[in-house]
Amino acid sequence: MYKLTKSFFFLFSPEKAHHMVMRSFSIVNKIPLLGWLMKQSMGIKRVKDLYDWQGITFQNKVGLAAGFDKDAKYLHALKALGFGFVEIGTVTPKSQPGNPQPRLFRLVKDEALINRMGFNNDGVDAAVERLKKRPPGLVVGGNIGKNKWTETDDAWKDYDICFQKLYPYVDYFVVNVSSPNTPNLRALQDKDHLFKILSVLMEYRAKQAILKPILLKIAPDLTEVLLDDVIATVKETGIAGIIATNTTISRADLNTSVDEIESIGAGGLSGKPVKQRSTEVVSYLSAKANGEFDVFGVGGIHHADDAIEKMNNGAKMVQLYTGFIYSGPGLVASCAKALKQ
Ligand code: FNR
Repeated sequence: MYKLTKSFFFLFSPEKAHHMVMRSFSIVNKIPLLGWLMKQSMGIKRVKDLYDWQGITFQNKVGLAAGFDKDAKYLHALKALGFGFVEIGTVTPKSQPGNPQPRLFRLVKDEALINRMGFNNDGVDAAVERLKKRPPGLVVGGNIGKNKWTETDDAWKDYDICFQKLYPYVDYFVVNVSSPNTPNLRALQDKDHLFKILSVLMEYRAKQAILKPILLKIAPDLTEVLLDDVIATVKETGIAGIIATNTTISRADLNTSVDEIESIGAGGLSGKPVKQRSTEVVSYLSAKANGEFDVFGVGGIHHADDAIEKMNNGAKMVQLYTGFIYSGPGLVASCAKALKQ
């Protein structure tokens, strides 16, 4: 059934299809019999595998990665799709339009996407208003970033604004310094900038009644030397963990023709081609964590075996995005079931 649905929606541009699918699902989900029929036909199920992490109870270990629901618009529908947790964002202090369209491309032969969205979002205040109506029983993470026009040395202020405004409304935080589509964002992965951002957030957190965990999201393109710097900063600031990984700027080993890749241009590559490198990063970080931080695995999960592989390499939980588009919504339940066993 998903194959048929996918063929239809793949007739539209990826960005248009994304909103069409989510709006349609949100409507159908509210009509009991129709919602039930659709879930049956697509293998959608809420797998219960309660898991406690940092004082938060997750329904299962499969989350929706950031970028899918940037503005917290679809949380009820995403809960019905069976995710154990959903990460909204990346959210920035002020709303911004992102890059001009087209900015999202399918590489069907590689089961991959290239995006240069550029943090299009409605801003943190709009996210807060929507989060006030978030569904109960779904863990929600807040992925935060900086506005395009904010200078690198002032970036910590943008993270601080988003952190403080979202603090009462999300369960955990993710500091995104790894999207390739905001100029110089990835420079924030260097020691000094990273230390400044994380220590400012940890200081604010220490004064709160509920201590919400902070994770750092990193790129798969970091060398071991840079990964070691990140690990040292994570340990020094005492944040809870790392999400590995974001999209890659690499274009190695693709089935899609060089001409097509060149015509698409800049952006972050996600899906099957990023799987191996993401898993390597998960494994490297986990081996060096020494129990001082946890790792969440994301990148190229298109099958339950891919989720198991991330866990076998040290991930505590997993997230997915591109696999959800290519393999369909049944992927969430199949991964959650596999990780339960
Ligand atoms: C993303 N991703 C992303 N990550 C992030 O931290 N903030 C963001 O705003 C976005 N936006 C975004 C948009 C689109 C269209 C895609 C495809 C991806 C990255 C995403 O969360 C994930 O880390 C990677 O896509 C790798 O996982 P998959 O897609 O291979 O499962």
